[in-house]
Parts: sequence; C-alpha cells; structure tokens
Amino acid sequence: MVNYPKGLFAGQTAIITGSGQGIGAEAARLFAAEGANVVIADVDATKANDVASKINSSGGRALAVPGDIMNEAYIPDLVKKAGEFGNGKIHIIINNAGYTWDGVIHKMTDKQWDTIVALHCTAPFRLVREAARFFRVKDGEPRVIINISSTSGIHGNAGQANYALAKAGVVGLTKTIAKEWGPQFGVRANTIAFGYIMTRLTEAKEKGAFVTLPDGEKVALGIPTAQQAAKGQGPVAPTYPDIPLRRPGSATEAAGSILATCSPYMSYVSGQTIMVTGGRNI
Ligand SMILES: NC(=O)c1ccc[n+]([C@@H]2O[C@H](COP(=O)([O-])OP(=O)(O)OC[C@H]3O[C@@H](n4cnc5c(N)ncnc54)[C@H](O)[C@@H]3O)[C@@H](O)[C@H]2O)c1
Repeated sequence: MVNYPKGLFAGQTAIITGSGQGIGAEAARLFAAEGANVVIADVDATKANDVASKINSSGGRALAVPGDIMNEAYIPDLVKKAGEFGNGKIHIIINNAGYTWDGVIHKMTDKQWDTIVALHCTAPFRLVREAARFFRVKDGEPRVIINISSTSGIHGNAGQANYALAKAGVVGLTKTIAKEWGPQFGVRANTIAFGYIMTRLTEAKEKGAFVTLPDGEKVALGIPTAQQAAKGQGPVAPTYPDIPLRRPGSATEAAGSILATCSPYMSYVSGQTIMVTGGRNI
C-alpha cells in the first residue's frame, strides 16, 4: 500500500479524458497521489478500469467512466457521474483524449479532417459546456481547465493539416474560457502543448497500434520508422537534433507539467500556452 499524502489536490475532483494509457494515465496516477478524486474517461474500457483499480488498490480514489468522447450522449453521463463522485463538485478538467490521423493536404479525406476536429475541438468544447454548472460557481475553491495541444498546433506540421488545425483550435478555446469564466468565477484555463513524448502515438508505426472508429474503420497509430529516422528520431540511433535536451519526454514528465499547471503554485497563470517540448522550436 502506498501511503498517499493529503497532497496538492486533496478533496478536488478531476476528469481526465484519455486516461486509460499514455500521458493521461500518468496524470491520473499523479493526481491521485496528490489526493484528487480522479475520473478516468477513456474509450478503452479495459484500460480505463485497470487504471482506476490500480489507483484504488494503492490507496487513491478513482472512478472509471469508459466511453467515446466523440459520442454526444456520453458527455452528460460522464459529467453527472463525475459530479456524484466528487460530492457535487468538479474542480479540474483535462481535455487530453486524442490521436493523429495523418495525410498530406492533397490526399486528406473529409472523414480524416472531420474526425480529428471532432475529437480534439468539438469534444473538449462539449465537455466544458456540459460541466459549466460545476465551474461557474463561487465557493472559494480552485477550478482549472487544461486543453492539451501539440507543437503541430503551434507551428504546423507537414502531413498533419487536420491535427495542426485542431490543436491550434484548443488554444482559442482555452483563452475564451479564461476570459469568460475568469472574471466572476476565478476559473483558470491553460493549454499545454507537448513536443515529442514517448507514447504509442510516437512509437514506430510498424508496431501496429491502432484505434477503431465507431464504424469499424481502423486508424493506424505511430510514426513510420523511415520518417522518424530522417529527423534523427525513432528506434534507429536517434540523436534528436531539433530538441535542445536531446531526448524525448516521458509520459510521466508530460503528466507532471499538467499537475504543475493545475497546482496552486500556478494560481496566477491563465490563458497561456505552455510548451512542454524539451526546448524544441525555441
Ligand atoms: N505523445 C506525443 O508526443 C504527443 C505530442 C503532442 C500532443 N499529444 C497529445 O497528448 C494527448 C495524449 O496522447 P498520448 O500520447 O498519451 O496518447 P495515447 O494513445 O497513449 O493515449 C491517448 C488515450 O486517449 C484515448 N482516446 C482516444 N480517442 C478517444 C475517444 N474518442 N474517447 C475517449 N478516449 C479516447 C485512447 O484510448 C488512449 O487511452 C493527445 O491529445 C495527443 O494528441 C501527444
């Protein structure tokens, strides 16, 4: 048994989308270790339940609410269950669920475009809108919304017109939340844009990871090894020449930046885009 301290987020309730694995799962573990009640929202029910049961069996408090964030009917259910789990309060939303579906502009289909925009922009908007009644409150307790972006959204990336647009979109959503809900309610909203973080999204595509769309179509995840090698990344003798720290970040490091941004030590930081990139693109 881990002896969880009261922690930075004691008594607060956090919804983390895409927390069945990768950065979201690490964030769930770290938030729980800091005393938060964590709602594990992921389309992969097995992984969501596993993350929640590991947290619960090590002395933390987690609730898995599996479902597809692109399914409109799931969002009210998620918010309702999170509110009940948090005894009527939700303090933190981390809009993290996501994946890439790459293609060059002249070959990208409407379906690729619409799916990625729905996943990274429409779903976070709907979740924040649904949870408004838990954030537009004056109870003296902190409220923070984090939207996860990417260097692709800030700088663009060849082969990722859909993802770059969607990840740029959340920057505007974040700033709007900060301006609408900051003045009266003290809600902070920040974007965190990751660079190269080691998860299945940045592993070799040849490893065969995929997501299955509701209609059964499979979308392959990862980056082709040859494409990675051309950039000095990937499994073959990587040098990471464009990253000043000369290495990718771990999911734990990425999650740590989410916690840091939600923490009271960042209580005067709102509307910002925080780059977590090892210095890439400076
Ligand atoms: N890994 C990187 O280098 C990197 C870089 C920049 C931004 N990001 C962003 O970070 C976030 C987390 O990515 P990750 O690298 O941890 O990926 P990951 O694949 O390890 O985890 C993402 C999780 O989101 C879940 N998910 C996907 N679609 C969903 C849906 N429709 N409904 C609910 N859950 C869904 C998946 O099941 C998975 O558990 C994403 O938004 C991603 O775009 C990652």
